Amino acid sequence: MIVGIDTSDDAGVYKIKSDMALVQTLDFLTPVTNSPYEFGQIAAANSLSDVYAMGGTPLTAMNIVCFSCDELSEDILGEVLKGGLDKIDESGAVLVGGHSVDDKEFKYGLSVTGIVHPDKVWTNKGLCSEDFLILTKPVGTGIIATAIKAKIASDEISDGAARVMSQLNNNAAQVFKEYKVNACTDITGFGLAGHLFEMSKASKKKIVLFSDKVPVIEGAEEFALMGMIPAGAHKNRAFCKGDLKISPDVERVRQDILFDPQTSGGLLASMNKKEAGLCLEKLLRAGINAEIIGKVSREDNQGLLEII
Ligand code: CO
Ligand code: CO
Ligand code: CO
Repeated sequence: MIVGIDTSDDAGVYKIKSDMALVQTLDFLTPVTNSPYEFGQIAAANSLSDVYAMGGTPLTAMNIVCFSCDELSEDILGEVLKGGLDKIDESGAVLVGGHSVDDKEFKYGLSVTGIVHPDKVWTNKGLCSEDFLILTKPVGTGIIATAIKAKIASDEISDGAARVMSQLNNNAAQVFKEYKVNACTDITGFGLAGHLFEMSKASKKKIVLFSDKVPVIEGAEEFALMGMIPAGAHKNRAFCKGDLKISPDVERVRQDILFDPQTSGGLLASMNKKEAGLCLEKLLRAGINAEIIGKVSREDNQGLLEII
């Protein structure tokens, strides 16, 4: 076993021969948009992302479905599964099966198996002093999902967020592979700040997050100002407490966005300054909305996140 359950990484990694390891992961979600097809795409992209975050290539996927025909029409399930299958196809993996249970609360996701070279596994504990941190998608999906549930998000705003969430992280991972990645994760339930905190703990380094550099999805800031903050954002902040420093210059609404739990968020990679500059250029040329959002500080530490 190369990566197990003790480091709260994105996926398990198990070596099967000298040049090949299996990457295994499982994720499922309750709906985050009103469109069943979109939800299927998003849930699948979210599940596949954990393979990309480890530096792996997805090979096979299995559906996990919790659904009740008493609550929803079967056509809805069909649309969701179609959205999921389209994303699996786009990733180059194949659907090999699945399982469903009767459940009043609809949930959908994938169990994904991929492969990676055992020497090229990215984990969340490799941060090096003075590395720069690159994020490949804007944040704010939890806030927008909250606004959609409250029925105050326009179609334009929710479509924009759905486009971000349904985007596969494979293109970003492909670009990262051309550079020396010291650590990588994808941004999901713990929010950007929560995942950075986990990386800082795992790597025993201090991270400085440049709050004004973080790209935000259109509409998220306005909804956050209106108080559309999911409960998970407060939990994420509480989780980091004690090892968290926030400059008084960082507005409360910006802090809430940084802790907002994400669905199918971007990849976050750590690499030295020179590589990061070149990599960012390449990502932007590939049409990926990436940004350098922080750096690893020079001194060793037991893990500390400073937001400036
Ligand atoms: Co993950
Ligand atoms: Co996951
Ligand atoms: Co079964």
